[in-house]
Amino acid sequence: MKKYTVVEIMKMKAEGRKIPVLTAYDFATARILDEAGIPLFIVGDSAGMVEAGYESTLPVTVDEIIYHTKAVVRGRTNALVVADMPFGSYQASVDDARRNAVRLVKEGGAEAVKLEGGTRMAGVIKAIAEMDVPVMGHIGLTPQSIHRMGGYKVQGKSRPDADLIMEDALAVEDSGAFAVALEGIPAQLAKEITERLTIPTIGIGAGPHCDGQVLVVNDMLGLSGQKVPRFVKRYADLRNLIFLAATEYIKDVVEERFPSKEHSY
Ligand code: KIV
Repeated sequence: MKKYTVVEIMKMKAEGRKIPVLTAYDFATARILDEAGIPLFIVGDSAGMVEAGYESTLPVTVDEIIYHTKAVVRGRTNALVVADMPFGSYQASVDDARRNAVRLVKEGGAEAVKLEGGTRMAGVIKAIAEMDVPVMGHIGLTPQSIHRMGGYKVQGKSRPDADLIMEDALAVEDSGAFAVALEGIPAQLAKEITERLTIPTIGIGAGPHCDGQVLVVNDMLGLSGQKVPRFVKRYADLRNLIFLAATEYIKDVVEERFPSKEHSY
């Protein structure tokens, strides 16, 4: 297997090859997902919710993303690692954005960064891309905008809203991004954007027509509790496996079956 770069990821769209993306937050999982052949990891600020138990992604800090990114980078061999820029790390000024993107690359080992927002963030995307740090855009349902959106709601359902999201997509591409995540938008709009852009679109809750798909790894592995969004497909039920393993362990210890002779020195 070869090392994936942003050039290779962009080539996948040009050649009509689909791009299967997952989030990753830790060394052990990244190693397995990399061995399985996932070409691109996003060290998402979703880590704050699924790993740290925050109610939203808003409290996540640059230091936390760096911690997770370092672990993922150590675990992967081939996958491209994209680190999320958390809320507050790029909105206040372009200088802030530049400095924090540099930290994610220099301290975290990320090969690209991702940030939320289209037209409004065009200058920030351009400034970071001009430092030769590849940028993935993220438009549609942008979780860092939860207070403006009034919840995690599908965006772009009316034609005027869809037109604004198309403008966002074009602004992200024009600003020099190498890819764009499309979250929580109608499948038809995602199709139109995917056909219009030359950079890859990576969908999450955006239907089947995107160039790639991304899921939060904890959701697809069944680690996130019972309620997950409709767009999530569960590929495993790790919660149940872990629960069963833990209850069996408790029984073994309480009933003095563990440690046995073979597990003792
Ligand atoms: O934080 C995240 O996990 C993300 C991806 C799922 C797109 O932004």
